[in-house]
Amino acid sequence: TTNQSWGGRFSEPTDAFVARFTASVDFDQRMARHDIQGSIAHATMLARVGVLSEDERDAIVAGLKEILQEIEAGTFEWSVALEDVHMNIEARLTQKIGITGKKLHTGRSRNDQVATDIRLYMRDEIDAVAAELARLRAGLIELADREADTIMPGFTHLQTAQPVTFGHHLLAWQEMLARDHERLLDCRKRVNVMPLGAAALAGTTYPIDRHLTAELLGFERPAENSLDAVSDRDFGIEFAAFASLLLMHLSRMSEELVLWTSAQFDFINLPDRFCTGSSIMPQKKNPDVPELVRGKTGRVYGHLIGLLTLMKSQPLAYNKDNQEDKEPLFDTLDTVLGCLRAFADMIPAIESKKDSMREAARRGFSTATDLADYLVRKGVAFRDAHEIVGLSVAYGIQNHKDLSEMSLDELRQFSDVIEADVFEVLTLEGSVAARNHIGGTAPDQVRAAAQRARDALAQY
Ligand code: ARG
Repeated sequence: TTNQSWGGRFSEPTDAFVARFTASVDFDQRMARHDIQGSIAHATMLARVGVLSEDERDAIVAGLKEILQEIEAGTFEWSVALEDVHMNIEARLTQKIGITGKKLHTGRSRNDQVATDIRLYMRDEIDAVAAELARLRAGLIELADREADTIMPGFTHLQTAQPVTFGHHLLAWQEMLARDHERLLDCRKRVNVMPLGAAALAGTTYPIDRHLTAELLGFERPAENSLDAVSDRDFGIEFAAFASLLLMHLSRMSEELVLWTSAQFDFINLPDRFCTGSSIMPQKKNPDVPELVRGKTGRVYGHLIGLLTLMKSQPLAYNKDNQEDKEPLFDTLDTVLGCLRAFADMIPAIESKKDSMREAARRGFSTATDLADYLVRKGVAFRDAHEIVGLSVAYGIQNHKDLSEMSLDELRQFSDVIEADVFEVLTLEGSVAARNHIGGTAPDQVRAAAQRARDALAQY
């Protein structure tokens, strides 16, 4: 049969395959609650300006509330023939309340309706994402505070570079996430603008009150231009861009967690509940959660490129292309929420293996720069100090000794400015404690930074 909502000008029914091919109800029904929320606000506004009577409004609102219950109870029958979530709900409303149901769409189009639904839906999801992100950040900050004194090797080129504190490393992750959090909340501002009233593309001839509808729906303001309001999906792209950066960060964290749980690093233990075993190798405990998060980064990047390409070159105003925005957006939201939840649960449960971390820092000549700085303080030019320490390291490699394990006489072979006080700077504790400025790795700085991070997070 021809679709009852627009069949008037058609002389034959839609091809059965085309009906299925063009339908979106299978995936847009997840916006049902927001579609109903938008419709209730629209009907309320129409009654306020006299386009609907109060009785008509009451019948519509009551009918929509019943439909929401049917949907939530799982008894609502979705029909592909009715194309999308919007027409399914509207058809059911008319079935329930009769002719008045047909008045709901006055002064509205599915074009401004769907754009509104997506924004309402995304706004709720963004708030859920922000809450999980905050929970993850809080967990990182507390773990960093507990690990402020724990020494580990810091790396460049994945080669041992200088000792750092584990807490400092964790707070580096926290900083990345703090920027992602800002980006998310900035994106929310542009999501929270109302398309309703734009109608199909040019606005409507009814005396609508867009400020009222916006207020009822908690939008910041009505969208300024009707053509733009129904057509752009840049807010969705922005969310996908936020999600891509977040997942890029989570994938870096994941990579380190995977390395650190390996027997070769052996820096941390992830509790068993976050890992899985092997069906053949009995000894295995695999860091599946970070691996999977690392892997999911790819699909989120894919959605960003997909959405950008979807919008590229689309002429104003609405085009059916836009129906393709939902699946990538929803999958991005689901993926981000899942990854954040997994990380927020897992991060506080990380157990550091302090001896093993310390030993790794000790083995890799990580205090070589401290020795060079010591020589500079004794009057040696930095380039010469670099050379002297390089020779000491070469000697250490040959004789299987770290700098701190050499005797004073051994060290003095390379420079006679070296004295007994050198051993203070060669210790790992001395090395980290000396980097005692804002942004440095000294334990006191880490504790102070954790406190600042806590305060910043509490602002949200
Ligand atoms: N299902 C459509 C979408 O997702 C709703 C808007 C349809 N508008 C139209 N003029 N066909 O974009």
